[in-house]
Amino acid sequence: MAEPKKLFIKTYGCQMNVYDSERMAESLGGRGYVETKDAEEADMILLNTCHIREKAAEKVYSELGRLKALKTAKPDLKIGVAGCVAQAEGEEIMRRQPAVDLVVGPQSYHRLPEMEAQVRSGEKSLDTDFPQEDKFAALKSRPKAARAPSAFLTVQEGCDKFCAFCVVPYTRGAETSRPVARILEEARELVDRGVREITLLGQNVNAFHGAGEDGSEKTLADLIWKLNEINGLARIRFTTSHPNDMTDDLIDAHGACEKLMPYLHLPVQSGSDRILKRMNRSHTAESYLRVIERIRAARPDILMSGDFIVGFPEETEEDFQATLALIEAVKYGYAYSFKYSTRPGTPAAERPQVDPNEADERLQRIQALITDQQQQIQNEMVGRDLSVLVEKTGRNPGQMVGKSEYLHAVHIDNSDAQIGDIVPVRITEAKRNSLAALRRK
Ligand code: 5AD
Ligand code: SF4
Repeated sequence: MAEPKKLFIKTYGCQMNVYDSERMAESLGGRGYVETKDAEEADMILLNTCHIREKAAEKVYSELGRLKALKTAKPDLKIGVAGCVAQAEGEEIMRRQPAVDLVVGPQSYHRLPEMEAQVRSGEKSLDTDFPQEDKFAALKSRPKAARAPSAFLTVQEGCDKFCAFCVVPYTRGAETSRPVARILEEARELVDRGVREITLLGQNVNAFHGAGEDGSEKTLADLIWKLNEINGLARIRFTTSHPNDMTDDLIDAHGACEKLMPYLHLPVQSGSDRILKRMNRSHTAESYLRVIERIRAARPDILMSGDFIVGFPEETEEDFQATLALIEAVKYGYAYSFKYSTRPGTPAAERPQVDPNEADERLQRIQALITDQQQQIQNEMVGRDLSVLVEKTGRNPGQMVGKSEYLHAVHIDNSDAQIGDIVPVRITEAKRNSLAALRRK
């Protein structure tokens, strides 16, 4: 038997990249690779890149510069670039960094095994096409390796919304949904491997419209109800959603579907209608607040999470104030705020930019407000009886760490639980980034 080859994957960015990296590792397993955490012993290094942050491509080029040194010392090393920077830059990557052997866009991962064979034979390999097929169906996984209790499952990819700041419609392509039967099959397989919680992923996941087993189109709510029937699966989540796609059936599911967790990530980006319009968001602050009202009517304890961009072109102090007011109105359990930065090729990139110092200052103010709210909501958890999906052992003896229904990290001090157990607890203390709890009998 030949020695297994070693694969090192470095993953940047969102949860979908984490999922993609897992699937790529599994599919290269079929080509004799095992994963390593040490880049220096790798026979292949894959960078799974993200294009959402500023200067993303430049950062990838400097990382590739460092990897080139490894390759000089070990000429057999193959270097690949995957993900959204691969999609956006394409051939340019191999031109600027000849040490790169392989460039694969997110829609072409099913071709990875044959691309690997091609680079092993000394050629270069590039694929950044957008084929209309279920790439994950062809990315066969190795059977039955045990899994952590919480897993991601991609059900939808790409986006047709074209928000003026966003690269996703260009890097991940048009919105496509996987067929329901394939998703259920993958979910059952995950549960067989020890998974208790599945987070359904998509850039615009609530626009899901996959083909059902009867041939008709299904909504995300239909899919969630199907997953709800899987024995052994205890928790369902989904991310990321667009306010305009929060349909009645999905809102109802939040009230009625027992395994759907009371947590919703629903980005709004701004609280100013003037800016929302310029962002091409096709909703207003008011319509967003009304959606949340309906969700809270269905599920009063739902914990809301969101994304915000500050310093979007032409944002005034007054627009920014409207964003702060919206945050005050919603009360977020979690929120992520970003300073606007230009993405070449997107409509907003051409527009007059806000003074960077002003934008920095707004970012600090929004983050202070969000941190306050988060802490307040964490504090309100003290004394409540929650359940925790145990994910790992803690630092102290007997301590286990997991997630509550609301996605807060919880440390259970007197736990004799196993990883994968769902444990009833009483919250005893709110810390900065986690909650402390005691197990209930
Ligand atoms: N500048 C700043 N933030 C951005 N996001 C997306 N594109 C940009 C950009 N050009 C943020 C949005 C999105 C999150 C994933 O990243 O808030 O919801
Ligand atoms: Fe990007 Fe989300 Fe807007 Fe789609 S809906 S363009 S993924 S920000």
